[in-house]
Amino acid sequence: MTKWRKHTRVWLVVIILILIAIAAIIWFSKSTSAPGNEIVKQTVQHEPLKPVEPTFDKTQFSLTDPTSLWVIVNKQHPLSPKDYLPASLVIPNIPLKSNITSNEEYVSAAMAPALEQMVTAAKTQAINLNMQSGYRSYSYQVSLYGRYANTYGASAADTFSAQPGYSEHQTGLAVDLGGTSNPVCNVDQCYASTPEGQWLAANAYLYGFIIRYPDGGDAITGYEYEPWHIRYVGVELSTEMHKQGITTLEQFFGVFGGPDYSTTP
Ligand code: DAL
Ligand code: ZN
Repeated sequence: MTKWRKHTRVWLVVIILILIAIAAIIWFSKSTSAPGNEIVKQTVQHEPLKPVEPTFDKTQFSLTDPTSLWVIVNKQHPLSPKDYLPASLVIPNIPLKSNITSNEEYVSAAMAPALEQMVTAAKTQAINLNMQSGYRSYSYQVSLYGRYANTYGASAADTFSAQPGYSEHQTGLAVDLGGTSNPVCNVDQCYASTPEGQWLAANAYLYGFIIRYPDGGDAITGYEYEPWHIRYVGVELSTEMHKQGITTLEQFFGVFGGPDYSTTP
């Protein structure tokens, strides 16, 4: 009898342990499948990666060094020194105005290949560009501006002609282009409606040039519209300005300009 009881107790303990084990298993399996504790396998949906646009480095070239492709010359920013003379000037291999003066036929050697390339490309599209004025020395600008000031008065002359030391023609990086389709419009605002003027407005940036004095830009550039005056800034900058729809160097770089001359010497 005692032995029987002993066995019964052992069995009871075994059964209780088995029941506890079963209860534990049930509890564990429930707790791991409870909402919130689920191990969810998810495929994370990533947005397609957008290509990172490289930001344009506006500090690549000086805005004040007259030898720099990006030099800004306006009524607030004269050339420094005012009688600056470019080191390397060449006569570009493009058609020149027949009575061009002897120093206006030169341009900066840094710009000549781009100018030749552009004029050649235009010619293949039956657009005949020619050079009206390229480099102008300080002393030539003295006589040119003086003549305009005598004829029209200084304040009128200031709207279209730079005072000596303030003309970007003196860098060798600016050129006035004309054309053969309507010569009376050369160096005149009606150039904008000639085939040459229209071609230039649409294509100059492809060769590294900008129309430096855009229509309506007087308050920013200090000069009235000059659809013939192009400035070489290099294709990287001209393309970026075109892409951003910014037409003046002053706006692109956040540099002061406008119609008033600086009071600095
Ligand atoms: N016509 C431009 C502004 C110059 O004289 O340089
Ligand atoms: Zn000009």
